[in-house]
Amino acid sequence: MSKLEVLIPAEKIGERVRELGRQINEDYEGKTIHLVCVLKGAYTFLADLARTLEVPTSMDFLAVSSYGKDTTTSGEVQLTKDLDSGLEHKDVLIVEDIADTGLTLRYLYNMLKARNPASLKVAAFLVKPARRQVEVPLDYVGFEIPDRFVVGYGLDFDQKYRHLPYVAVLDNP
Ligand code: IMP
Ligand code: MG
Repeated sequence: MSKLEVLIPAEKIGERVRELGRQINEDYEGKTIHLVCVLKGAYTFLADLARTLEVPTSMDFLAVSSYGKDTTTSGEVQLTKDLDSGLEHKDVLIVEDIADTGLTLRYLYNMLKARNPASLKVAAFLVKPARRQVEVPLDYVGFEIPDRFVVGYGLDFDQKYRHLPYVAVLDNP
């Protein structure tokens, strides 16, 4: 049977997201942030982070292929929903749930960079440093976590557990 073990409680997430928000407000003073949310996993992080922002924002959403029922990446990233608008002259902040191997973020970073934004940065809620295969610039990171498969706060296994307000390790998925 699968078992959930809380790794990051909701209160700790709230504190950290507010900290990131403060940092982002300082860094983007006088600018408008164009938030690009990577569906589906980043929806909770985007919603919480955006509400800490005091600088003007705009938002757009894209989606990339997920693991399906597998817990390790196929290494192939597929864009399943593109953004609605262009990025020229925008200060773009990619909002992602987790950098695991880094392949998804590298793919997205290169793709969005080619659309000529004024600036391009990355906010990842979680990173698993032990599994990184490729370098990606991570400008804002919520938490570094060990090499375990986690769910909650937007992250899923087979589309389940996204609603959990905390991050938990899923054993025997
Ligand atoms: P990467 O391309 O290997 O960095 O994987 C990135 C994507 O895999 C993330 O956007 C997540 O959707 C998914 N992923 C990676 N690790 C986990 C995990 O521990 N739990 C849930 N999803 C994960
Ligand atoms: Mg994701």
